[in-house]
Amino acid sequence: MIGVYDSGLGGVSVLRAMHRTLPQHTLLYLADTAYCPYGPLPVEQVQQRAVACAGWLIEQGAAVVVVACNTAASAALELLRETYRVPIVGVEPGVKPAIRATRTGRIGVLATGGTLTGQRFARLVQRFAANVDVLTMPAPALVEQVEAGELDTPHTRTLLHDYLTPLLDHGADTIVLGCTHFHFLAPTIRELVGPAITLIDTSLPVAQRVAHIAAAHNVQPKTGQVHFVTTGDPAQVFAPLRVVWGDVPTLSHIDC
Ligand code: DGL
Repeated sequence: MIGVYDSGLGGVSVLRAMHRTLPQHTLLYLADTAYCPYGPLPVEQVQQRAVACAGWLIEQGAAVVVVACNTAASAALELLRETYRVPIVGVEPGVKPAIRATRTGRIGVLATGGTLTGQRFARLVQRFAANVDVLTMPAPALVEQVEAGELDTPHTRTLLHDYLTPLLDHGADTIVLGCTHFHFLAPTIRELVGPAITLIDTSLPVAQRVAHIAAAHNVQPKTGQVHFVTTGDPAQVFAPLRVVWGDVPTLSHIDC
């Protein structure tokens, strides 16, 4: 079984890509909704949640853990790899593909404040984006919109307009969706920015990385079923989960 977690529903974007890439594998998704959003939390608390969520997934039998959360990967990926023996796969904003895609040499990065102020992001930009103008835009309010299942409401559109306009005015021709939640806003973003702007989403490359790791560690396919758990209230999470996943086979509450 492969375990996946995020602060809430954002990581379902990676889960969907994984289910398409690894259809025979059993997947277990943990939405740490009781602590969502992670973006504003102190790094230490994001680290505590990472150890708790990854540990819970491993106790359930996860042979690989996917941290489908840029904020948590930024704060805790190294800590998790020191703490647990199973392979831990993380995500990071798609700065590298954005650099390959841009023609203006100006890229915008939408992410949480936790990701953008983290050392991992700073190292990523320093190492790969020396000759590119990287404009960052913390967009925390968008996480709550996705958590509410509001992917295309007037309020979501207003928020997106306010976050995207400075990037476009700055001449960015490539925009990185640096939070897994923002994958679900891509259709609305596309309407707002038009066809000439490249949007970078990393859910598929992450799923391909997970497939490589699973094969390398001989993780056996099982039923292909996908199970969902949340630290929050299933009655609150079920409807927005259906928005991002579709029919939801199971969703139960857990504490970790
Ligand atoms: N979806 C997560 C990310 O990619 C976390 C968002 C949050 O909880 O603030 O950063």
